[in-house]
Amino acid sequence: MKTLHLVAVIIGVVGVLGVIGGLITWGVLASRDNSPPPPEIIPIDWWKHCVLYQIYPRSFKDSDGDGIGDLAGIMSELEHFVESGVDAIWMSPIFVSPMVDFGYDISDFYNIHHEYGTMEQFEELLARAHELGIKVLLDFVPNHASTEAQYFKDSEDGVPEYKDFFVWADGYPDPDNDTNMLPPSNWVSQFGGSAWEWSEKRQQFYLHQFAIQQADFNFRNQAVKDEMFNIMKFWLDKGADGFRVDALPYMIEADPECHEGRYPDDPLSGLAQFESHQLGYTIPLYTKDLIELYDVVYEWREFIDKYNEDNGGDTRVLFSEGYANISMTMLYYGNEDGAIGAHFPFNFDFITDVSAKSSARDFVYTILKWLTYMPHGATPNWQFGNHDNNRMPTRFRTNMVDGLNSLNQMLPGVTVTYQGEEIGMRDGYVSWEDTVDVEACNRGDEDTYQLYSRDPARTPYHWDNTTNAGFSTGNRTWLPVAEDFMEINLAKQKEDERSHYKVYLALTKLRKETTLSHGEYAIRALSDSTFYLVRYLRTFDTYILVFNVGEEADNVDLSRVPQMSLPATVYVSSIHSSRLPGSTLEDDQITLEAGEALILKCAPV
Ligand code: GLC
Ligand code: MG
Ligand code: CA
Repeated sequence: MKTLHLVAVIIGVVGVLGVIGGLITWGVLASRDNSPPPPEIIPIDWWKHCVLYQIYPRSFKDSDGDGIGDLAGIMSELEHFVESGVDAIWMSPIFVSPMVDFGYDISDFYNIHHEYGTMEQFEELLARAHELGIKVLLDFVPNHASTEAQYFKDSEDGVPEYKDFFVWADGYPDPDNDTNMLPPSNWVSQFGGSAWEWSEKRQQFYLHQFAIQQADFNFRNQAVKDEMFNIMKFWLDKGADGFRVDALPYMIEADPECHEGRYPDDPLSGLAQFESHQLGYTIPLYTKDLIELYDVVYEWREFIDKYNEDNGGDTRVLFSEGYANISMTMLYYGNEDGAIGAHFPFNFDFITDVSAKSSARDFVYTILKWLTYMPHGATPNWQFGNHDNNRMPTRFRTNMVDGLNSLNQMLPGVTVTYQGEEIGMRDGYVSWEDTVDVEACNRGDEDTYQLYSRDPARTPYHWDNTTNAGFSTGNRTWLPVAEDFMEINLAKQKEDERSHYKVYLALTKLRKETTLSHGEYAIRALSDSTFYLVRYLRTFDTYILVFNVGEEADNVDLSRVPQMSLPATVYVSSIHSSRLPGSTLEDDQITLEAGEALILKCAPV
């Protein structure tokens, strides 16, 4: 009996196990048969994946023949942005200004500069852009005002309300010269020379971290902070979609109250090539990246979030400008205590960290630096140029234009185009006689100005091959038009079968794919000169950029690229590539010519 019992129990257990085993096998097979469902696609806010285009208004399009770009000119090209796949524009300053720093020296923060147009035109521009679905961001310049601004005049006159609006300090008697006063500290301006300027009227020095005509606001004065809210509110009420915020690292300087009543000297760099009036002579310990400035940025974010909440509509944003090391840059996003700052700080790493000499490994390292340090869930952004730096094809090589634009548009987050990059515009030559940039004029002379001049990146936009490249009908333009406009211009590139602009169009279209807006990324060097960037998302097509950034042809093995499957379709190729868009790639062993870039489209993972 007992043995029978035991046998029955064993049979029972085996039976049950068998059934369980069968169920498991069935489950596994079933899940193998049904491919996994597509991921849930949550819509993202407009600014997190937009194509942002920087307009330098003075050089974009001149409507009235005075040789200076203007709002009516921009307005006449709004459809062009729609066609180009641009979602948002940001304009360098358009406010009243004596134009010492071409608009970054604002004398009236509440009005439009007369050369650019009128308030009515600005309102019209906003309305038309919004009708077309284009967002418009303004340049907000909080660090300084023009010395022509009423605030400054009143401050210099000692009008009580404005007395402490700027950073004023007594000087020190010059032991060698009774009639001379020495500045409060050794601080050097970004444009060269002492950062302090003597005011005869007030018998004190005022601080200017940039040009003498750009006086630094005193952010330790609550009235100044309040005025900044007023300015932002004024333009938001008009309908602006947000701001690019200028020169933040210089917003706050050391507090004399913490330094025995004196402005402390910045430490000396010890670099022999710099004299005391030259940028580089000191290390900006007390003048740049001060931790207190971030609290101001966090307050602005609170303000704009509240504005969004109170007013509804699409999100208004803050994109902050500042060249700083990675940790000080990331603090603009927010800090560990949970404070939130800019929607993003502009990423200048493609401008400061890579060049024509960089290897594929340098590119990968630079890209991963941002993505590694960026706080979880934040939005990255990418750009290769702006009005302060040499143009992208000049800093790199002209055969890299399409590859760099592809990289810029394929990376996750926001892509920023500086006007002209979409057609591969290069630096224009500007002679010493024609040079107008205050930085070049102050820091350089006839022999050295080109080291500092920002004019070459600011020459007028090339619309077509007519007079002044179609920028202006005037006899002269504020900066000369670059000589190569006959070969490099938008009209020609619209006609040519293959052109940088056509590549750009394909890229902005590609960005609308869910893989690009929501997908993962993988990036790695395949060799010294070629790297890949894969964008993939389960059940959606995979897009792979392979880019040879070197000066010689490179044989690469695409079987090393994750998510790669053959055959693949060439979705985009740089204009000198022998592989045409739409062609099929069958082989994983390929040779990429110098500068050649391909975007391959492969079946979903
Ligand atoms: C920013 C601007 C630059 C300007 C400076 C001072 O860096 O981009 O053009 O000269 O701030 O406002
Ligand atoms: Mg004009
Ligand atoms: Ca300042």
